[in-house]
Amino acid sequence: MTQATSIHLAARPEGEPTEDNFRTQTRDLPDPAEGEVQVRVIWLSLDPYMRGRMDAGPSYADPVEIGGVMTGQTVGEVIASNAEGFTKGDIVTGFTGWVSHANTKAAGLRKIDPSRAPIQSALGVLGMPGMTAWTGISELIGAKEGETVVISAATGAVGSVAGQIAKARGCRVIGVAGGAEKCRYAEDELGYESCIDHHAHEDGKAMAEALKAAAPDGVDGYFENVGGKTLVGVLNNMNTFGRVALCGMVAWYNGKNMDQSMPLPAAWGTILKNRLTVRGFIVADHWDRFDAFLSEVAPKIADGTIRYREDVTEGLENAPATFLSMLNGGNFGKTLIRVGPDAD
Ligand SMILES: NC(=O)c1ccc[n+]([C@@H]2O[C@H](COP(=O)([O-])OP(=O)(O)OC[C@H]3O[C@@H](n4cnc5c(N)ncnc54)[C@H](OP(=O)(O)O)[C@@H]3O)[C@@H](O)[C@H]2O)c1
Repeated sequence: MTQATSIHLAARPEGEPTEDNFRTQTRDLPDPAEGEVQVRVIWLSLDPYMRGRMDAGPSYADPVEIGGVMTGQTVGEVIASNAEGFTKGDIVTGFTGWVSHANTKAAGLRKIDPSRAPIQSALGVLGMPGMTAWTGISELIGAKEGETVVISAATGAVGSVAGQIAKARGCRVIGVAGGAEKCRYAEDELGYESCIDHHAHEDGKAMAEALKAAAPDGVDGYFENVGGKTLVGVLNNMNTFGRVALCGMVAWYNGKNMDQSMPLPAAWGTILKNRLTVRGFIVADHWDRFDAFLSEVAPKIADGTIRYREDVTEGLENAPATFLSMLNGGNFGKTLIRVGPDAD
């Protein structure tokens, strides 16, 4: 019988989570039921949205129950099938959670062709993060040639793709990232005009000054991933009729950096005076545009116009620590856990 290891939510965090919020369990996995396949996980994606699932309360998706398996998308190999259309050896992606093996409904799986791209790219550039980047730049900001676009978390899974799509559309791209190494990468490898190290600027005022210097003619589009002092700095530099794609606000996810903000009346007034469009979005609402995303982005990945980095940690047991580190900027590129070896 297959032994399955899984990582569960042990307790809801108060503020910043710790490894004590997670619990690991191993059990025998029965054969897959009718309509299910048994998957051996090869790659687990770690994403900031998982922090939200650890909390109770209303959101766009249900929280993980205490004791439940941590939610997450994986890529794996079918090792047994009790479902039409799937056979042993198929490579699939789906939401099995933080597990080594799972019996999962075939209806929730998508097959991947391993000859087209590295299979883990279905969790990154060619998957949800890439699609999120494309949605924000093309559907919400509507980035046009000659415009200035700012990207926060600019070297991360979403930000790095967003910035390069904007660049390929002829925009002037200013990145914001944490640390000199990430900024160097943003300028030298991703091709941004410049990158501001937010660690080197202590508050929103300093960020605003740095952005003013980097974008003296103002900002037309902002791909918002972080909130905090970066948001304050960008809002103070937005041009009339600018557009903000509100994708995430990771600086505030653990209840930290709450002093890095601006009063709501000031933010509201800035939006009004500059006639800004600010649109929050969840990529799941845009999935019908996945083919449009693929047709623009996949060829650019294949020909090297869009580059990407993966930050790989070996071993499912290291998922909690890796996840906590990512929330604080410890990752450099798409955060992945290598759960098991490639298929033969
Ligand atoms: N709306 C949607 O449907 C959707 C879908 C996917 C992702 N998202 C959001 O997109 C954002 C990026 O996700 P991702 O998967 O690409 O993660 P990521 O950028 O690869 O990793 C998270 C990054 O957040 C940055 N960060 C953490 N704390 C910060 C702080 N205090 N100030 C500024 N930056 C901070 C760090 O980058 P630096 O070291 O550069 O600061 C860190 O590397 C997140 O907010 C996520 O929730 C939204």
